[in-house]
Order: sequence, then structure tokens, then C-alpha cells
Amino acid sequence: MEKNKKEKTDSQADTQAHIQAHIQTHIQTRLITSGRGEDESSLPPVLYPATAFENPSLAEANRMSSDPNETRLYARYGNPTVDAFQKAMAELEGAEKSRAFSSGSGAVATLILGLCETGDHIVAQSQLYAGTVSFLRFVAERLGIEVSFIDGMSSGAFVEAVNKKTRLIFVETPANPQLGIVDLSELAEIKGPIKVVDSTLAPPVVQTPLKFGVDLSLHSATKSIGGQNDATLGVLSGSAELLNWLWTPSVLLGANAAPSEAYKGLVGIRTLGVRQERQCASALKLAKWLEGNSLVESVSYPSLEAHPQYELAKKQMSSGGSLICFDIKDPEINSRASKFFDCVKLAKLASSLGGPETLVTGPAFTTHVDLTEEEMKEAGISKGTVRVSLGLEHVDDIIADFEQALSAIK
Ligand SMILES: Cc1ncc(COP(=O)(O)O)c(C=O)c1O
Repeated sequence: MEKNKKEKTDSQADTQAHIQAHIQTHIQTRLITSGRGEDESSLPPVLYPATAFENPSLAEANRMSSDPNETRLYARYGNPTVDAFQKAMAELEGAEKSRAFSSGSGAVATLILGLCETGDHIVAQSQLYAGTVSFLRFVAERLGIEVSFIDGMSSGAFVEAVNKKTRLIFVETPANPQLGIVDLSELAEIKGPIKVVDSTLAPPVVQTPLKFGVDLSLHSATKSIGGQNDATLGVLSGSAELLNWLWTPSVLLGANAAPSEAYKGLVGIRTLGVRQERQCASALKLAKWLEGNSLVESVSYPSLEAHPQYELAKKQMSSGGSLICFDIKDPEINSRASKFFDCVKLAKLASSLGGPETLVTGPAFTTHVDLTEEEMKEAGISKGTVRVSLGLEHVDDIIADFEQALSAIK
């Protein structure tokens, strides 16, 4: 009897351990459990707005001043709320470490200025967020860092462009705005340069680039991770060695995240799973509906079978993401394309993505306006290109809105 009881207890313990291990493998659960301090009983994240903390002694202050993990010296160096956000992101990305920045662009700038020097070479794809292209063109090249832009969707293009001086390969997948997909396994095989993937358009739950063997994953957490259009925040995840190295440039550039923004990032993480589930399902339904509209020239969405990299997207992403892109047929006839933005009623004209409201924008006039005509062509952007970020409304209401807007511009 005693023996049976013990066996039962052991097997119950095993079951519990198994359940626990199983639970911990689901990212939807980690979205809720990550970034919590062991002694923290507050359910919501705790905001430490402090910019400075009292130091225990001069010797401790001395040690803290050069410790990239220190959170209680001075907010530009580190802060407990920022640290909680970083720990949550590292857990979600499957990374040794994450570092939070004042914006996605702050992460891009720190990465390039922190890792590259005059004489170095960067390989970047042509299809990137335009702010990143501008940084590479106007800042990196001015500092004597050579940049080669290549077609990221073309197999073998990255490896071909790499030379002995290549320090960094900069990738964005899915790429803004036409949603081309870069093969992450192929990228990971390139030895030597540091490979960074801007995964802003596919947050954790949709894509975790480090799983494929690349070095760094980058997000503008201003978008889906924050998720409410109220946080300006960036994050890089990867090895502790790389992220500790980037701490000094980040402190000196003033690029580390503010505590209030990291707090909003943590709040956003808790609902990221359900938001993405709804937004991605809506994106797929709207994309399929657009495919059947006579005024639509083409639709790009990674989960559409017609997407040229549909199979690759299925391998790398759990869904197609919350962004779609389509081109209006003959956009200049009766100023059709610009009228579309006047005619939508529920969807709002705004240049962001990942929030609760469905947003539309014309990349040629807004997000990518700084590109030359040639660069726009390479990025697949025309005057009729419409980028849609699906929000949390009922998708049938969004479809009805698009239907009336497309009918109005015929
Ligand atoms: C793919 C991508 N990366 C980086 C950024 C820059 O992020 P932030 O606006 O937070 O600086 C953006 C902004 O739109 C983006 O879309």
C-alpha cells in the first residue's frame, strides 16, 4: 500500500514535470510568464521611472559604472523595468540576451555604428524599411563603410556579395512593404559576417529568426510588440557577447530604451499572442478577398498560395503576419490610388503597423518617399501600392470598407 502510494506520488510528480515542461514550450504561455522577477508579486509589470539610484558605496558605484548588466546606476546605462522587458524578449526569441533601444532605428544605428568601422563592408537587401536604407546610404557610407544592396529574394545573392571586409549582413523578412521572404537557413550558412534579421513584420509567435542560426534578431517594438501605438521602442536579441559589446555604444549614443517605453513593451507582450492570432487571420481573409477584386492588380501576402515564396514562408513563419500589400490597377487613371485613401472610412491613413486599428498607407508617398525611383522599383513599390496593417476590428467590416472604397474609385 505504502509502495503503491509512493509510486503514485512519483508518477504524479513526473506528470507535473511533463505538464510544466510542455506548458513552457508554448510561446503563448511564455508571453504571460516571461520578464517577471522571482520575488515580484505584482501581476502587471512594475515601472521604475527612476533615472538615478542611490549607490551603496563608492567601490560599488565604480563596479556598476562598467557593468553592462547593471540596472540601478543611471537609466541611460540600465534600469530594472528595461531589464524585465529585455529578459522577456530574450525568452521569447530563444536568445541568450536582449537589449532594448529607444526605437527600432536606435537599434539599427547602434548596431551599425557599434560593429562597423571605416573600411568595413555591409551587405544589405534592397527591400528594407526605408529609414534603414537611408541610414546605410547617408550615415554608413559617409563614414567610409561600403554598402552593397542586393535582391534578398534571389537565392545565393548574399553569399555572392560577401567579401573579406564584410562585417555585417542586414536582412529584413518579411520585407517592408512587398513582403518578400529571405531564406534564413541559407543566410545562416554564411560564415564570417554577423547576420542580423529585422523581424519587425513577424514578431515572436509568428517568427523567431535565431532558431534558424542567424546571429541577431531586431524588432521595432513600436509596432506589434508594443501593439497599442503608444510606445517607441526597439530590441536586439542574440548572444550575450554581442549584446554586451553593443552596450557601450548604446550608452554613448543615448540609444537605450526609456523605462516608460519598456513598461509599455512588457504590457504589450502579454496580449501579443491573441492579437497576432486575430490580426493574421484577418490579413489572410482580406488578402483572399482582394485577390478576387477587378481593380486590384496584385496582392502580396506570405500565406497566399500565389506568393512566390509560399513554401519558404510556411517553413519560417507560423502564419503570414498582420501586414498585406496590394497594387491598384492603373493607379493614375482618375487619381484612383490617392482617392482610395480618401474613400476608406473604417481603415485609417497612418504610417505604422501592428496596432489595434487597421491602417493603410501608400509607401511611395510616405514610408519610402526618400528612395530614388530606381530604389523604389527594386523594392517593388509603385504609386498604386497600398500597405495594410490589419487591426482588431471584425474583418468583415474591414472588407466592407475596402469594397465600398474600391467601388468608389472605379
Ligand atoms: C521593418 C522596420 N524596421 C525598423 C523600423 C524603425 O523602427 P522605429 O520607427 O521604432 O524607429 C521600422 C519602422 O517603421 C520598420 O517598419
